[in-house]
Order: sequence, then C-alpha cells, then structure tokens
Amino acid sequence: MEASILFFRACLALLALPIYLLSFLGIWQPFCKKIFFPFFIEHFSATHEKKAKKQKQELFRNLPDFRSPSGELKLLEIGTGCGANFQYYPPGCKVTCTDINPNFQQGLSRSMNKNQHVHYERFLVAAGEDLHQVPSGSVDVVVCTLVLCSVHDMNGTLKEALRVLRPGGAFYFLEHVVADRSSWKYFWQQICYPTWKLVFDGCCLTREIWKNLEQANFSELNLQHLSIALPWTPIQPHIVGYAVNAARGGSQEEAAGECKTAQQAGKKMY
Ligand SMILES: C[S@@+](CC[C@H](N)C(=O)[O-])C[C@H]1O[C@@H](n2cnc3c(N)ncnc32)[C@H](O)[C@@H]1O
Repeated sequence: MEASILFFRACLALLALPIYLLSFLGIWQPFCKKIFFPFFIEHFSATHEKKAKKQKQELFRNLPDFRSPSGELKLLEIGTGCGANFQYYPPGCKVTCTDINPNFQQGLSRSMNKNQHVHYERFLVAAGEDLHQVPSGSVDVVVCTLVLCSVHDMNGTLKEALRVLRPGGAFYFLEHVVADRSSWKYFWQQICYPTWKLVFDGCCLTREIWKNLEQANFSELNLQHLSIALPWTPIQPHIVGYAVNAARGGSQEEAAGECKTAQQAGKKMY
C-alpha cells in the first residue's frame, strides 16, 4: 500500500512538474494567490454549488433563529472567497467578509451585485486564526465553508470563531474531510495529497475536521457526514452542520459536557 501510494504520488508530481519548478523558483505561490486560485475558486464554486445546493439550503435554513433580541442578524464569514454563500443569507443580514487573500475582489463584487438582499458591512483581510479587528461577542453567526482544510491552525480558528460569537450564537460549517481509511477514496486522497496542497493554495485533503469541532468548546454540535458527488475528485467526503456557542453563564467545562451529551444522544440536524 505504502509503496504504491509513493509510486502514484511520484507519477502525479511528474505530471505537475512545471508547477513544482515554478514553486522552487518562488513564482507559483504569488501567481496562485493572485491569479490562479481566485479564477479557479470562482469556477469551482459554480460546480460545487450545483452539487451542494440542497445541503446548503438545508444548512442555512435556520439562520434567522440566531437573530439577536433586537432582530438583527450579524454574520461574519471566514474565508469568504467569491461569496458563494451570500444567496443563502436572509434579507437584511449584515455580513462582514474576511479572507486571508485579498485577490477575490472581482468574483466577490459579482456575487455582491447578484445578492443585494444582503447588507455588506465590511471586508477584512484577516486570517481566521487572528480576527483581532472584530470585537469579542459581536456577531450572531460565523460561517466557514471549505476553509478549515486550508487554515494553518484549525483550533486557533475555532477559538477565534467562539470569541467573536455572542453567547448563544452559531458557527456554520461545510467542509471536505478525510475519507474512511478502508476506502479507495482514502487511497486516492493519499496519492493526491502533496500535489493537491501545492496546486490549491495549501488545501489539505486528509483533515479529520469533525474531531477539532468536537473538541472545541461549543455547547451543542449538530454535525452530519455526507458525500457530495464530485466524481474523480478527492474531495467527496464532507461534513456539514452548525455548532452553538455556550449561552452566557455556562462554564467552558459545562459546555464541553453538554456538547458530548448532544453527540452521544446522536443529535442530528437533518
Ligand atoms: C476553497 S476557498 C472557499 C471559499 C468560500 N468559503 C466558498 O465556500 O466558496 C478557501 C478560502 O479560504 C481562504 N483561506 C485560506 N486560509 C485562510 C485562513 N487562514 N484564514 C482565512 N481565510 C483563509 C482562501 O483564501 C479562500 O478564499
């Protein structure tokens, strides 16, 4: 198994040799961030969107439940990219977009023009691991789709999401994850892993993201594993759901205890 993975990895690396050379010369990363990745994400989003539309509609359906007592819904998106999620946000929702890469402006503007039912507050160039421009407890909802595969520090990002969420606010996610270890999909992910990471701006195929979500201090975790039909790609296995920030007064220990209980009870959103 190990030898065959190494063999096929080498074959794939050979096919992608020009990119490895550009990377060695320090040309690929800036080109990828400025031109290739924004272009790719805008077009990939359209395909992913078609395949995941139902799941996203279902996921975001209860967003209005997290409005603050004043009736406002303040939403912060980590890794907004080209704004593929705007269409699912309720009218009047106040959105703060954040991304570590500021080069998505064109796609983002197109998406904003298409989705004028949403109120765009600001765009911050910021890593999910460091949202210091955003005050603690200031947003009702944090959204993160197809981002936790790329962040440098997943626990740090979840910690920041918890910090900026008001008590009782929710963290929504849809992420591709590692496949079952006994499956061909896992074998395929192992082969693609290094080249994929290089080509797609640090995207890791083999993260067990649900484990980090389970260990974060959310009071309730609603999580489902599902497969999104993206044939021939190594990113079919996904997780989707939302997690709730402990209401004020609950200690972090209580939150962790409640979270375990919810999962043991098999609490599911769908
Ligand atoms: C695959 S795209 C997903 C974009 C969008 N969320 C969607 O669902 O179409 C990943 C996005 O995460 C951003 N990203 C990667 N690492 C990040 C980090 N540490 N903090 C914030 N954004 C990050 C990338 O710049 C990119 O916009």
